[in-house]
Amino acid sequence: MKQQINPVINQTVKVASPGTVANLVCGFDVLGLCLDAPADEMTVTIISEKEVRLKSADGYNLPTDPMQNTAGAPLVEILQELNADFGFDVLIKKNIKPGSGIGSSAASAAGAVVAANHLLNNFFSQEQLVRFAMSGEKVASGVKHADNVAPCIYGGITLIRSIFPLDIVPIPAPELWVTVVHPQIEVRTSDARQILKKQVLLKDAIKQWGNIAGLVAGFMKNDYDLIGRSLEDVIIEPVRSILIPGFDDVKKQSKAAGALGGGISGSGPSIFMLSTNEQTAEAVKKEMHTVFNKIGLEHHVYVTTINQQGVKVLKDI
Ligand code: HSE
Repeated sequence: MKQQINPVINQTVKVASPGTVANLVCGFDVLGLCLDAPADEMTVTIISEKEVRLKSADGYNLPTDPMQNTAGAPLVEILQELNADFGFDVLIKKNIKPGSGIGSSAASAAGAVVAANHLLNNFFSQEQLVRFAMSGEKVASGVKHADNVAPCIYGGITLIRSIFPLDIVPIPAPELWVTVVHPQIEVRTSDARQILKKQVLLKDAIKQWGNIAGLVAGFMKNDYDLIGRSLEDVIIEPVRSILIPGFDDVKKQSKAAGALGGGISGSGPSIFMLSTNEQTAEAVKKEMHTVFNKIGLEHHVYVTTINQQGVKVLKDI
C-alpha cells in the first residue's frame, strides 16, 4: 500500500552516527550503550530513481551493492515497505573502523535509517527504525541482533528484552566514563559468533543472568559497586578473549587503576572499561597504552562518555 509521505526530491540531510558498545560484558545480544565518540558522518539525499546508491568518502572500499552493505539493506527495506517511487543516495564517511567491535556496521545501518526517516517527516517510530537497521546487522554478521543498533538509535543504555517481537527498554544510568581501546587487528563479528559454544551449563547460565540483572539494577539504582561486581561474563568472554592479545592484562591493570570493570566491546577486538570519572578513565587509558606498547600492537584509545541522544541530525542541506 502506498503511504502519503511526500518526499522532496534532492532534499538532503547530514547525520552523525555514533559508535556503540554491545553486550556490556554479561549481556550478550541484550545490552548495549551509545558512545559520544567516535561517530561516522552520513549524508542522505532523496532521489527520483527507485534505487539506493552508496558512495564512500573514506578508504574502506565497503560494498556498493545495497544488499551487501549495512547501510543499504535497511534502506531497501524502507523503500519496499513504502512501495516508494523514489530512492536514496547515501554518502558515508566512516570514522569507526569496520571490524573494530565498536558498532561500525550498526552506525552505518542506524545512521542511514535515522537520516532517511528525517527526510520522510519522521514517518517511522524509533522501534521500527531498529527493525530496519537490524537487516544491516544481518548483512554484517549473518544474524539479526539489536544490541548495537538500538542504543545507536535511542541513545543511552538499552536492554533488548526480545527481538522477535522487538521489545527495547531504555535503562537510566548514573554518570559513567568509558575508555575504549581498539587494537589494530580485525575480528569479524560473523567469525566471533561462529566460535561460540552452542550450549551453556546451567551453573554458568545462573551466574550470567544474576550478573545481567545485577548490572541493570546497578545502573538504575546508581550503585557503582553493584555495576562493577556485575561486569563479569562466564560464557562468551572465555571463548572470545583468546582472539585479543593483551586482554587479561588490560582488564587487570585497568581495574587496578580504578575502573569499575569492563571487557570485550561487542565481538572485539576493542576492549572497554567503565569508570566513575574522567580522571580514572584517563588513568585507564594510560594502562591500556602500556599493555599494547609492551606487546608492540598499534592501537587507538577513546576516552568518552555515554551519548544520550544517539544518531544526531547535523543539518538539512
Ligand atoms: N552481540 C553481538 C555479538 C554484538 O557479540 O556478536 C556484535 O557487535
